[in-house]
Amino acid sequence: MVSMEEIVSLCKRRGIIFQGSEIYNGLSGTFDYGPVGVELKQNVKKAWWEEMVHKREDMEGLDSAILMHPSVWKASGHIENFTDPLCDCLQCKKRFRSDHIEEKEYQLYKVFTAESKNNPKESDWKEESFQITADSKKRAKEFARQMLKEEKQIKVEVIEGSSHKAKRCPECGGELTKPRQFNLMFRTYIGPVEDDAAIVYLRPETAQGIFVNFQNVKQTMRRKLPFGIAQIGKSFRNEVTPRNFIFRTREFEQMEIEFFCQPKTDEEWFEKWTDIRFNWYIKYGIQKNNLRLREHSREELAHYAKACRDIEYNFPIGWAEIEGIANRTDYDLKQHQLFSGKDLYYFDDQTSEKYIPYVIEPSAGVDRVLLAFLIDSYREEIVEDRKRIVLGLHYSLAPIKVAVFPLLANRSELVQKAKRLSSELKRYFHTVYDDTAAIGKLYRRQDEIGTPFCVTVDVDSLSDDKATVRERDSMKQERITMSRIQEYISDHLKFS
Ligand code: GAP
Repeated sequence: MVSMEEIVSLCKRRGIIFQGSEIYNGLSGTFDYGPVGVELKQNVKKAWWEEMVHKREDMEGLDSAILMHPSVWKASGHIENFTDPLCDCLQCKKRFRSDHIEEKEYQLYKVFTAESKNNPKESDWKEESFQITADSKKRAKEFARQMLKEEKQIKVEVIEGSSHKAKRCPECGGELTKPRQFNLMFRTYIGPVEDDAAIVYLRPETAQGIFVNFQNVKQTMRRKLPFGIAQIGKSFRNEVTPRNFIFRTREFEQMEIEFFCQPKTDEEWFEKWTDIRFNWYIKYGIQKNNLRLREHSREELAHYAKACRDIEYNFPIGWAEIEGIANRTDYDLKQHQLFSGKDLYYFDDQTSEKYIPYVIEPSAGVDRVLLAFLIDSYREEIVEDRKRIVLGLHYSLAPIKVAVFPLLANRSELVQKAKRLSSELKRYFHTVYDDTAAIGKLYRRQDEIGTPFCVTVDVDSLSDDKATVRERDSMKQERITMSRIQEYISDHLKFS
């Protein structure tokens, strides 16, 4: 399997993803999508929107504001419950999520240091105790080396039978503070006065924008249950330890559906949505054996959920969540009814009953899903004794659909013909023209970003008006009449 480092390097090399604010040494937990990455991201969102909104009869779309009335977050429970347990290292001062730190077996070491160089007296030795795990012996040696550099004498004693389990700083092995609850919502102020009355939050999920618009959408679109509202947009979480590239960041995008249904039909819809969402990943090319479902235990459930299961992907860092499917019951609408004082009941004219709808929520992270698509489609092959890196992305996700090259960049007739073909194809697909390297290198660049078709205009093209179309995966080359290339590519993209 490809490593995360290889993916990060490919993303940087090929203009897919850059570290945020890179020229200032980066801003932790932020990333920027480059010219190729922005296309890939838009295609991921398009694939979701087309399948979840356009092709369904029971879905409406929405694009709600990121800043919302502060009472929204009181009602939703985020002010009270959206917290992570946080601890600080007393030694290196770094901050960690205490639930991310494993308990390890430690042994107590006593390290004695003495300032004097030669034959220190018993009273010269200063004692320090260290808790050291099997895998942190390196750090102890480091310490000893430092002491010797400072020309101190050192002797180490292991305390027999001192072995015990504890959580210590994963960076330096230092002692940690007790965990404190830390709210993950970013705060800012609305208007010019920065007082408590002006505090607003950057939304930590897009879901609440849907709940507060439930009545608006239902009424304006004359909807009856069951129906859903879908939204794609940015969310922000002040994650304590953002990590693993774009897997856990402080600013990210979500693709969320709140599906409103009759009470008592929620469990059935929970199963249906699990299938729909699981199959979406397979349809867009993720290998089935790299996906699995994981049920949340009772302790793990979010404050609003009756049940939740994750769709997990087999990342190089291990199995991890790309999407959560939650049964949010009538919790959110009930809370908003309570806090806003507005009637959020649904009148069922079939049964003449009034009730608050139940909600099933499939919630995916665009960035994590995109990372899964990158990893799953990455492959290395040996072709004619050379390594070929290919992103075998589903054609509809590929950032660029066609690349057009002249075989010789110094022959103006070829350049002109290739440029003309490229601008013609641009009317139909995202097409690029490139003549900045030799043909082999141009092919390799396009393979690395998953471009399905490369078209080369050569000397024969001047007389037979044909060009060579090369397909990414099979590397099969066909000479096609120029005026037919658009149709040829359209047909192949359609049936991918
Ligand atoms: N509205 C429900 C909700 O937000 P969640 O499980 O906290 O549920 C849903 O988030 C999805 O959003 C996750 O499955 C993940 O893909 C993505 N996500 C959450 N936090 C993220 C972060 N810090 N960085 C990137 N993606 C994140």
